[in-house]
Amino acid sequence: MEELQVQHWPTPHLNLIELPRSHEERAFSQAVVDGLSKQQKTLPCRYFYDLAGSKLFEQICELPEYYLTRTEQKIFEDNSTDIIDALGHELAIVEFGSGNSIKTRLLINAALKRQKHLHYIPVDISSSFLKASSHALLGQIDELSITAIAAEYADALPIIPAPKEPRLFLFIGSNIGNFNRAEAVSFMTKIRKRMDSKDRLLISFDLVKASHILEAAYNDAAGVTAAFNKNLLARINRELGATFSISEFDHFAPFVQEHSRIEMRLISKCPQYVYINNLQREFSFEQGEYIHTEDSHKYTFQSFAEICRAAGLEIQNQWLDKQKWFAVALLKPREI
Ligand code: TRP
Repeated sequence: MEELQVQHWPTPHLNLIELPRSHEERAFSQAVVDGLSKQQKTLPCRYFYDLAGSKLFEQICELPEYYLTRTEQKIFEDNSTDIIDALGHELAIVEFGSGNSIKTRLLINAALKRQKHLHYIPVDISSSFLKASSHALLGQIDELSITAIAAEYADALPIIPAPKEPRLFLFIGSNIGNFNRAEAVSFMTKIRKRMDSKDRLLISFDLVKASHILEAAYNDAAGVTAAFNKNLLARINRELGATFSISEFDHFAPFVQEHSRIEMRLISKCPQYVYINNLQREFSFEQGEYIHTEDSHKYTFQSFAEICRAAGLEIQNQWLDKQKWFAVALLKPREI
């Protein structure tokens, strides 16, 4: 943490706090070795989001099969004012992830109906994406000042500014589903420990539904999700000098009932070896063997409430779409 760099951007309303690149690179190569050395090979999903990955993800959000973004957006269109009113006072907004989205703008605009100025603090792993989206926001909304933090969420938590207004923490896009239960509880607990009694945490989550609907969303006909998943291999090729032959892997994302989650997999089409130059390591793949790249958990109201309890939080309010496919929950620290 002592190596933090603070850059003052030409725009007076934007501060960018960036973790040094070397830190990221070491972490990335270590994560790749660890994941590919396991019996069940894995790759950590946080590395999906380089600039190429972030752009592919924006395309996923537009797909006809991918109901999540659209459904969540409708919930925000219908309820942003309600959500902001539930806090009932001036606030600052801290957001984990994205920072580009229409959903966030809806909340920002709703907040600016109640207050003259807003401090917005997005945290994202991709600093290029963060810069672009921060500039776009500042270009459109004058009453905003931004402190953008390019870091992994856990690294960012201790350095998130605490303005005098209470903070609304956002973790939307159903990204909580990409954590397993223990990780979700641990992340939410870390946030709760930094929360004041007036701070709130807004989390959205995807609900369990028929598996053909879930599977269509993650196995789209146009192959964008496949390209997004395979970009992880392309990124290892680019950044770590690896020899992944990307066409020799298939994308497949089944709904696994037992864990109530979609599993993102990359299946090796043939027996093959991959050499990673920067690590001087070789990894072998059998035909049909897969790399497990990501999970997307689907919750019931009970299973989500239980995670909140375990993290020392309670649900103050909850908003849903008409079909009850998706939920946005406002959480407050539980009084113990
Ligand atoms: N959290 C969202 C979801 O699980 C978005 C997302 C993360 C996603 N990784 C993904 C969507 C991979 C498709 C594929 O749906």
